Amino acid sequence: MQNTTYSPMSGWSGETARALRSVAVVGVVAARGGAGATTVAALLATALARRTATVLVDLVGGAGLDVTVGAESVPGPRWPDLVAAGDVPGDQLLAALPRWGRVALVSADRARPCLPPPHEVLDRLGEAAGAVVLDLPACDVLAHRAPVAHADIVVVVAGRDATSVAGAVALRAALGPAAARTGLMACDARRGRLGLAELEQSTNLPLLGRVRHDRTLLTSTERGLLRPRRSTTRAPDTLATTVLGARDTRAGAPGHRQGRVVSARRRPEGRSGA
Ligand SMILES: Nc1ncnc2c1ncn2[C@@H]1O[C@H](COP(=O)(O)OP(=O)(O)OP(=O)(O)O)[C@@H](O)[C@H]1O
Ligand SMILES: [Mg+2]
Repeated sequence: MQNTTYSPMSGWSGETARALRSVAVVGVVAARGGAGATTVAALLATALARRTATVLVDLVGGAGLDVTVGAESVPGPRWPDLVAAGDVPGDQLLAALPRWGRVALVSADRARPCLPPPHEVLDRLGEAAGAVVLDLPACDVLAHRAPVAHADIVVVVAGRDATSVAGAVALRAALGPAAARTGLMACDARRGRLGLAELEQSTNLPLLGRVRHDRTLLTSTERGLLRPRRSTTRAPDTLATTVLGARDTRAGAPGHRQGRVVSARRRPEGRSGA
């Protein structure tokens, strides 16, 4: 196992910062366990992938994002392979990644636990992709170890309950300058009673959208699939439009990767819900 460490708040390395101007980077983190962050990250990545080459990055580990979305049987490199890959160009890396529908996955491997791939791997993917969605562990954000410094937007996924409020407040305090680019996605994965305005006020974070309780989603993920109702994808779809709009404004015309879609015609061999 290679010992990979994140330096505090370093985010994406400086030398690739220029190339990264044309990639939209979104960090997604849960205000509390089971708030729906991985689900929101996956739905957001699906929405982005309709319009640009998109990588969904699992920085949490454990079960692995491939299992969560039902792509565990799709061949391709997982964390340990990316850690060992060395100096592979971003476009080659991107082409080799397993696909969940149109979304390229950087996933942990439940059978080969190890630390996540180093930032350089993410940098290279960021040079080749149009959008990168990071599924961030809250503990890394709280410990200033998560690569949030170059995230265009950080999405804190919160339930409508006091624990989510407290968790979001803690995350906001730990995010440093990135807190100014952070918003809330209210998710009714667990039923809570706080109003949306109350959630916004008590966390001092702007509301980006709301994902309603979706029983279909709950039962489908229990079977290792991620199949939301159409209405559940609305808020992630809107967020994707905002994120890509901001990227396009920032990147300007020259050298800007427009409209590339990761392997639009390639279907994964395993199950796919994207
Ligand atoms: N809108 C929703 N409606 C109903 N169930 C949901 C919704 N969103 C997520 N879920 C379910 O809630 C559970 C937790 O979701 P998810 O894994 O996305 O949360 P998380 O915040 O990433 O959790 P963790 O703390 O384990 O990383 C899953 O079973 C998922 O299917
Ligand atoms: Mg999760």
